[in-house]
Amino acid sequence: MTLACPNCAAVLPPLTGDAVDCPSCATTYRRLPFAWDLTPPREALTAGQWEVWEQLQRNGEVSYEADPEHNLGVGSREDVQRFSRFSRLAGDVLDVGCGPQPWPAYFDHHAPDTRFVGVDPLVGEREARYERFRALAEHLPFADGSFDVVLFAGTLDHFVDPTAALAEAQRVLRPGGTISIYLGHKREGAPKPTVSHEWYEALQVPDGAEDRFHMERFGPDEAVALFVRAALEVTDQEHHHVDEWRSYHFYRLTPGA
Ligand SMILES: C[S@@+](CC[C@H](N)C(=O)[O-])C[C@H]1O[C@@H](n2cnc3c(N)ncnc32)[C@H](O)[C@@H]1O
Ligand SMILES: [Zn+2]
Repeated sequence: MTLACPNCAAVLPPLTGDAVDCPSCATTYRRLPFAWDLTPPREALTAGQWEVWEQLQRNGEVSYEADPEHNLGVGSREDVQRFSRFSRLAGDVLDVGCGPQPWPAYFDHHAPDTRFVGVDPLVGEREARYERFRALAEHLPFADGSFDVVLFAGTLDHFVDPTAALAEAQRVLRPGGTISIYLGHKREGAPKPTVSHEWYEALQVPDGAEDRFHMERFGPDEAVALFVRAALEVTDQEHHHVDEWRSYHFYRLTPGA
């Protein structure tokens, strides 16, 4: 895997000391306590509602502290173990939106010698047990053709621009590589949980967001339409129903011809 400037795509020098400068555009990237920060400068961000997204990210931080098990990567839920097997983890694996936990549980089933790399704007307060960077799905800090598998585990509906994120995933895939997606879905009209928490009720839904955590939620049909628009072919899929209202869906995608 080769690190590349998320602003200008130049190859970055080895990350040593407290900061490195891009040799081409001179953007400075800094070391944080538990990860290097490879987010591009604000003015380089793709168009979109980044202020709305920042508020959702603050809500996400609160939820991680109050209810970490809500996330796939934490604990060992059946859906998570299934997704781990579905994803055929081998070679160089990139997890886009890996979350702040030290080891996402969906990494559990993998071929020997699999190398994991994760990116997330939220890197938390603990060292990860794999290579993790503070970075954005829409602006991946890697050279073209760096990975064999790219994972999106419950993350597509958190991004400002999921189409840009899928284009970036294709860019960093090696020939023959695959993208593996976990999509959780709740049908419209689903009853609200009977137990609600004070911390949850206190969070605001920012104008322009779909709910307290998501920019825009997708159902399975909308997700497939998004993949098609991104010129990705669905080569395998699984659909699991939890109950009348909730389901989860896995997709394996390859760049279309
Ligand atoms: C529901 S959590 C899932 C985390 C992890 N994959 C798991 O299943 O435990 C969604 C994650 O997406 C991350 N995220 C939100 N916007 C992002 C972006 N633009 N680029 C990369 N990650 C992003 C959030 O910080 C959060 O960690
Ligand atoms: Zn640069």
